[in-house]
Amino acid sequence: MKHFFNSTLIAAMLAASLQSAAAEKIIVDTRKPGAEISPTMYGLFFEDINYAADGGLYAEMIKNRSFEFTDPLMGWDAFGKFEIKSDGPFERNPHYIRLEYPGHPHKRSGLQNEGFFGVSVKENENYQFSVWARCDDSRNSKIEVSLVKPDMDENFQAVAKATIEITSAEWTRYTVTLTPSMNVSDGLLRIMLRSENPVELEHISLFPEDTWQNRPGGLRRDLAEKLDSLHPGIFRFPGGCIVEGTDLDSRYQWKNSVGQVENRPVNENRWHYTFDHRYFPDYFQSYGLGFFEFFQLSEDIGAEPLPVLSVGLACQFQNSDESAHVSPDSLKPYIDDALDLIEFANGPVTSTWGKLRAEMGHPEPFGLKYIGIGNEQWDEPYVIRLRQFVDAIRSRYPDIKIVGSSGPSPEGKRFDYLWPQMKELKVDLVDEHFYSPESWFLAQGTRYDGYDRKGPKVFAGEYACHGKGKKFNHFNAALLEAAFMTGLERNADIVEMATYAPLFAHVKGWQWRPDLIWFDNEKSVATSSYHVQKMYADNRGTNVLQTTMAGHPVAGLEGQNGIFSSAVTDKRTGQYIIKVVNTSSEPQPLEIELKGLPKGTHQVKAITLQSSDPDADNTIDNPYLITPAESQFAFENQLLSTTIPASTFTVYIVQ
Ligand code: AHR
Repeated sequence: MKHFFNSTLIAAMLAASLQSAAAEKIIVDTRKPGAEISPTMYGLFFEDINYAADGGLYAEMIKNRSFEFTDPLMGWDAFGKFEIKSDGPFERNPHYIRLEYPGHPHKRSGLQNEGFFGVSVKENENYQFSVWARCDDSRNSKIEVSLVKPDMDENFQAVAKATIEITSAEWTRYTVTLTPSMNVSDGLLRIMLRSENPVELEHISLFPEDTWQNRPGGLRRDLAEKLDSLHPGIFRFPGGCIVEGTDLDSRYQWKNSVGQVENRPVNENRWHYTFDHRYFPDYFQSYGLGFFEFFQLSEDIGAEPLPVLSVGLACQFQNSDESAHVSPDSLKPYIDDALDLIEFANGPVTSTWGKLRAEMGHPEPFGLKYIGIGNEQWDEPYVIRLRQFVDAIRSRYPDIKIVGSSGPSPEGKRFDYLWPQMKELKVDLVDEHFYSPESWFLAQGTRYDGYDRKGPKVFAGEYACHGKGKKFNHFNAALLEAAFMTGLERNADIVEMATYAPLFAHVKGWQWRPDLIWFDNEKSVATSSYHVQKMYADNRGTNVLQTTMAGHPVAGLEGQNGIFSSAVTDKRTGQYIIKVVNTSSEPQPLEIELKGLPKGTHQVKAITLQSSDPDADNTIDNPYLITPAESQFAFENQLLSTTIPASTFTVYIVQ
């Protein structure tokens, strides 16, 4: 995150600090640190929606690389003499293309791929092209691979080119490095047959050499870095609705997402047709970013992995008929999937699934502690099925924490039915989802104050403020999320984790807004909501401090003028950290008293997120419009007097 020293902001704050008459007073008691804040408190929820995986975090640049989309040539233009065949070397992805000599030296056989919203490459960077290929009998074949840029005259110009000699009639992987001579944002990958002998090609792939952790075939660096920079405590994957599928056939099946990447069967992505107004017929899941990679990423960024599996219910929004789901007495394969997943993550290398993990390059266990069963499920059909999973997991893996669902809404009939059921089933955490308007967020400051402390913990697993009539990213939504999060923090004894949703969106391929991080093929941008998440995660602290205004929690209650606040101490650093959100459109005189702070002067670093335009947000073209600004204050004899500007979220860090 960039911190700018904003002198105007500081001057305004200092000037205003002189006028403390009629100030609201927040009292923070440092003397008795309260509940511990779970290291998992602020985390990430990843779902392959908005081209978050293929076309996004997964750095593969070729769409439909295995010719396995419903139309095997989707994303490709094939020309000359070609044929799609289906007896290839990878049994779960059997299609490939055969190119033959077109009959005249001036004719061409070949194919070109449009990538994800274009193939975008950078000048002088290296790109790894690979292909599985074979020639007929022992006569070599030759292909020419090029990155082409449609130029101003609509000619096609090769910015990188290489020739590959195919020397074996056995399927063999060939690789070459392409280094473009110029930037191209909407290019193509083209392959031409350059021999009279035919050639057969399968799993045609192109990755930047520069990936997260420099892993070949890995993740897009800028996107992974944005995740890492949030220091997430928990990483929930792979969804969301894609866990359930539109029908059971299209549900996410983790076993299909591990092992050799070429043999992971392509799955449709339910988001390709979920919204007519955002219809993307070319949205499939290659599973190149699969469960192994999710575990690895969790480890890289220091987050506890939280996989979510199907409970045997297809999306209940789309399937009201019981016959669409697995009958409760046929759940065994689904339960086995859950048990096998735990073995894949944690089992010894001598176990079936632990062995696969080791073969994939990670003999050490991933240390899985949590598993989610079902996404947004509801009513009795869920409870009946979940019970079987709970029994099976408890008896084999009693230490694994199970996350159950409270349905798709944060209140109402389904929610009220499920919470007691989750208690009865003794799940460890209950996942709550809320995509709600401003009024809802403003009214939820004390949501968790009255929750039963003896039951399961809360996982606020999907949330975002969806402004009324404003389903796009904007500052005011982020501000209200910050306000709401004071209530999560104050209730850290019951709220164990929270994740904003969705995480990623491609500017040309989104289905759902708002989102935390936007990107195109070249750049990415952190939204205001991202900065809010980061300000919390960077300043998580270790223990809650009691924070009150006239004896009440500071939660935007009547008479509190839209102020929300929470505070923590960090026992590791000795810091006190106070978060204050002014949701009103007026500046407000404010005093903060830190009871128990030794008398004298204590320096305070303040980090403030502010925008004068509530509808504005950062964009790809203007990525730093709204960024946190740093300023300095001091507590004099336990007291800080200031005026908090309108519509601001400030974190005060007291040494
Ligand atoms: O985050 C987008 C979707 O919202 C998720 O897939 C689903 O769980 C919820 O309905």
